[in-house]
Amino acid sequence: MNEYYPNFAIIKEIKKETINTNTFVLKFTDQKIADKFSWKPGQFMMLSVLGVGESAISISSVENDNSINATIRNVGNVTNSIFSLKKGDSLGMRGPYGTGWPLEKIIGKDILIVAGGMGLAPLYGVINHVIRNRTEYGHLEIIYGARTPENMVFKDEFSKWKRIKNSTFFLTADEITRENPFECRTGLVTSCFPMMKTHHRNAIALLCGPEIMMRFAAKCLETIGFADKKIYLSLERRMKCGIGKCGHCQIGLKYVCKDGPVFNYDDIKPFIRPL
Ligand SMILES: Cc1cc2nc3c(=O)[nH]c(=O)nc-3n(C[C@H](O)[C@H](O)[C@H](O)COP(=O)(O)OP(=O)(O)OC[C@H]3O[C@@H](n4cnc5c(N)ncnc54)[C@H](O)[C@@H]3O)c2cc1C
Ligand code: FES
Repeated sequence: MNEYYPNFAIIKEIKKETINTNTFVLKFTDQKIADKFSWKPGQFMMLSVLGVGESAISISSVENDNSINATIRNVGNVTNSIFSLKKGDSLGMRGPYGTGWPLEKIIGKDILIVAGGMGLAPLYGVINHVIRNRTEYGHLEIIYGARTPENMVFKDEFSKWKRIKNSTFFLTADEITRENPFECRTGLVTSCFPMMKTHHRNAIALLCGPEIMMRFAAKCLETIGFADKKIYLSLERRMKCGIGKCGHCQIGLKYVCKDGPVFNYDDIKPFIRPL
């Protein structure tokens, strides 16, 4: 079969996250394809609307019946068309693609998660994985930042995440203009670093968010002793094929779609966009 050919998926539910972000619960209409589906946190799907185009969207979680949760921010042509669809409508879906976070490699380590804005979507699966396999990992520290508290995604999970055993959870916003129900601090994610419990000795850092945020966060982590090898980040580049054929997402000798989107910082440091 042509590997660019998407399968149909039905929208089972739509959940509002923020003013311009929804979580779409998507299920392949072909039950055999749905049954065979397997994934790793950090991987992504290509979602398409006929006559409009395709977009790379992270898998935030997968339900027991293999429905896929895709948390999407409405920013342009394709995402706007997805937002015009209703529960029961269908769209095109192919994947999963990409490498995912190195969950097996980091067993036994403390985990520091630093996420900005929509960057929490590909890390949501990591948090759920650690919760389900709590004894396999050390201390879990989550630092999540957004422009404002209203811009944060997965807000329904925050009270649960605050209660995870052996963990610390910081929320921070660039500005707090209205109510502050989650007791967010004010400032960039890096402003939480002086308070964090994680020590670089036995820790791995997983970063995802705007590239400028990841660049600053990685630099700050380096200054407090994190070796580049202990930092992983998920990159976003414009994608076409999603499977390493067209070259649209190339950085150096690597393709973000096939060799990433999760990379070790040591391998891609020169390719992070300059400030
Ligand atoms: C691996 C990967 C995972 C992603 N996961 C998610 C996710 O879980 N949820 C989500 O909402 N978005 C995610 N994105 C981003 C998403 O693919 C783009 O926002 C989407 O393709 C925009 O398409 P559009 O036609 O709606 O917007 P367009 O009309 O194409 O563009 C609107 C604006 O977004 C910018 N833009 C478009 N695509 C990208 C991109 N890939 N990287 C950076 N800027 C872009 C454009 O420059 C423009 O400013 C992911 C991207 C990648 C590469
Ligand atoms: S999107 Fe075509 S090579 Fe990555």
